[in-house]
Amino acid sequence: MTTIKELLTNYAAEFNARLNEFFPISTLPESRVVEAMKYSITNGGKRLRPFLVNETGKLFGQSFEKTLRTAVALECLHTYSLIHDDLPAMDNDDLRRGKPTCHKAFDEATAILAGDGLLTYSFEILSDERTAAPATRNELISLLAQGAGAFSGMVAGQMLDLYVAEHSKENTEHLIKHIEEMKTGRLITFACEAGAVLGQATPAERQKLKEYSRGIGIAFQIADDILDVEGNEAMVGKKLNKDEEQGKATFVSLYGLEKAKQLAKEYIEKAKDALAIFGTSGHTLHQLADYIITRQK
Ligand code: IPE
Ligand code: IPE
Ligand code: MG
Ligand code: MG
Ligand code: MG
Repeated sequence: MTTIKELLTNYAAEFNARLNEFFPISTLPESRVVEAMKYSITNGGKRLRPFLVNETGKLFGQSFEKTLRTAVALECLHTYSLIHDDLPAMDNDDLRRGKPTCHKAFDEATAILAGDGLLTYSFEILSDERTAAPATRNELISLLAQGAGAFSGMVAGQMLDLYVAEHSKENTEHLIKHIEEMKTGRLITFACEAGAVLGQATPAERQKLKEYSRGIGIAFQIADDILDVEGNEAMVGKKLNKDEEQGKATFVSLYGLEKAKQLAKEYIEKAKDALAIFGTSGHTLHQLADYIITRQK
């Protein structure tokens, strides 16, 4: 039987093979920003979010091809969030996906623009008629804008992450959960909902996928925070021990490694429970949930 790691690797290879067609490079000098966008998006990455779009779409009869444009749009948005997260004014990181971060490989201004370019491009891709029927793509645009945005989406989570690191003395489980849900969970929820929207799932099915995404979303960020402490830098492809150095509020800083691991496991169990409605078709998503907290990168 194919393991979840192999499934993810195979999907990533198929996905990567299609990325070039989205990033034509011209000889115009302004194409430098497209080069920087392409550098960051083709620079490795697990492709977890695109994989989720594809797998949740599959539950409702959607093919690789039918989910591809939404998957690419989401990976563009995710990559923008990483480029900006790495900037000196934010986490100030030199290494991403095992390579120099965008502002190191290019320069700070180009990295800011590459992030802007990827964010905008993500909605250009979604709004194109090749993505889905008008009502469907409109719904995808609205969900992604909310999930990525400043009110309770990724941008809000990033703001709170920075604010709390700078100002807060007493962090609570509630506060940390709120940060992690917004900065990481919301895009993972979009990934799972997108498959349901594309495949016209019933409200009950969609609700269950949302529950699943909330469990894996928070567990995914806890695993990231654990890898920051006990991961292998070559495997993870990022500088480690950054969270403590920068005073970030994480479950690891609040409870220590063992309790953080226990919490992540509990979120994963909840996520798996939500898949019951899909019977044996939910098998891959079930395996993926376990992988999220056992992964080495
Ligand atoms: C890193 O995301 C940022 C977080 C939300 C923790 P991933 O761990 O999915 O990064 P890539 O896409 O595989 O590089
Ligand atoms: C970032 O969380 C989440 C984003 C929205 C990019 P981290 O700051 O922990 O992500 P890494 O560890 O740099 O990938
Ligand atoms: Mg950060
Ligand atoms: Mg960071
Ligand atoms: Mg991290």
